[in-house]
Amino acid sequence: MQQQASVDEAIARKYPEPVVVVTTRSRDGRPNAMAVGWVAIASSDPLMFVLGIDDGAYTFELIQATRQFVVAFPEENMAAAVLHVGSHHGRGRDKLAECGLAQEPASRVAAPLLADAVANFECELVDVYRPGDCPLVVGKVVAAHVNRDSARRRLYTVAPGHVLKGVRPIE
Ligand SMILES: Cc1cc2nc3c(=O)[nH]c(=O)nc-3n(C[C@H](O)[C@H](O)[C@H](O)COP(=O)(O)O)c2cc1C
Repeated sequence: MQQQASVDEAIARKYPEPVVVVTTRSRDGRPNAMAVGWVAIASSDPLMFVLGIDDGAYTFELIQATRQFVVAFPEENMAAAVLHVGSHHGRGRDKLAECGLAQEPASRVAAPLLADAVANFECELVDVYRPGDCPLVVGKVVAAHVNRDSARRRLYTVAPGHVLKGVRPIE
């Protein structure tokens, strides 16, 4: 049975929420990464992701400048690093090095893959939409990679306030 509630109370029940790491690389070659919980598939053929990325994120500036990025699905042992890249702006610093996130070169875009992620998707920007207060970035997947260790479990946000914990995907 349902009881009417405020939108804030109801949306607090949405967890677990996926979390991805979006990596980018500036035109002068510096990598950056941010955590993004607002992520969904926007198209299956071709595969596209839609990401809600704040205007103020350095990542948003880099995506607009380069039209490229990587969507990495972090594994549960990456929780501390995901919190780090999700809590600091990257302009003028190297967040990936600060939290020891290992990188691998991508094949089609300049942004790095995350070596320990469950999967990485190289994306090219399709467009940015603004239906509300958050820009929606749509990226077309141009290459995909999976971790050789298929037992790795994906990281999720399990409670408000960016509480992160791995849960086993349904098999
Ligand atoms: C678990 C988690 C989820 C987040 N989800 C989003 C999101 O969906 N959209 C967003 O704009 N910021 C989100 N953030 C905040 C950004 O990751 C944060 O503002 C980051 O510092 C931006 O980095 P940048 O300025 O280097 O791009 C999230 C942070 C965490 C820890």
